[in-house]
Amino acid sequence: MNRKDTIMRLENKVAIVTGGAGGIGQGIVRHFLAEGAKVVIVDIVDQQQGDELVAGLGDAVRYLQSDISRAENAPTIIASAVDAFGRLDILVNNAHASKQAPILETTQEMWDLSLGSGMYATFHLMRAAHPELVKTKGAIVNFASGAGIKGLPNQVTYAAAKEAIRAITRVAANEWAADGVRVNLVSPVALTPGIKAWGEAFPAEFQEVVGGVPLGRLGDPETDIAPAVAFLASDDAKYITGQTLMTDGGSIMMP
Ligand SMILES: NC(=O)c1ccc[n+]([C@@H]2O[C@H](COP(=O)([O-])OP(=O)(O)OC[C@H]3O[C@@H](n4cnc5c(N)ncnc54)[C@H](O)[C@@H]3O)[C@@H](O)[C@H]2O)c1
Repeated sequence: MNRKDTIMRLENKVAIVTGGAGGIGQGIVRHFLAEGAKVVIVDIVDQQQGDELVAGLGDAVRYLQSDISRAENAPTIIASAVDAFGRLDILVNNAHASKQAPILETTQEMWDLSLGSGMYATFHLMRAAHPELVKTKGAIVNFASGAGIKGLPNQVTYAAAKEAIRAITRVAANEWAADGVRVNLVSPVALTPGIKAWGEAFPAEFQEVVGGVPLGRLGDPETDIAPAVAFLASDDAKYITGQTLMTDGGSIMMP
């Protein structure tokens, strides 16, 4: 059976993917396009890099250079999808920047970076997207992390932002269920270009990380992580809201 004979899960849907120029984000964008969606990539990489990325991806994708940590950019980001494609069905809050440090060395700048690009960006984009998602009975997919769920050392600003995003997701899932808007999370483990480079530099440490994944490997952004995001964003998940989908090879098994 070739791809044309299979069901396109996201046909006629319009999505925004933040951090769509990065590791997991790019995998989501490619998979969403293959599933029939139209996509706006929002990222801070420069316009030329964004233009080069979309040039290789076809007609159903646009690039918007925007810093999601600035709350005032949220309305423009949401409007970009409506202007380009006439509607918004899916918001994927994937981008998140942070710096690692032990609690005793954590600075205010580290908090601002992680909460700004993670918790506040997710919150402001969700709010700005709400009116459009009500119209389309749309869906939001946010991003969690095992670092937050487990409380990994040296990750206090990242872990706190990720667990705040999980709380925001559950509150919105309750508040917006009556509007027909679903809100869920994916908690991934993925082999991004950054982690690949680290693994080449530190092969023993890398093998230790892989050893902690019951399925024995790190996920591929496009073929392992993106299908879980697409599922939660699609009508197949129409009875699922407020949930964290562990897309991590079994690393964390929720009771
Ligand atoms: N890779 C993993 O194994 C893993 C594990 C747990 C959680 N996650 C989560 O998955 C998501 C994607 O992770 P990744 O590994 O692909 O990250 P990445 O660092 O490879 O990509 C993040 C992208 O977000 C963009 N970005 C950063 N700050 C931004 C801002 N202020 N405005 C707009 N764009 C901005 C970056 O330019 C980059 O393209 C993140 O939420 C991350 O916390 C990843």
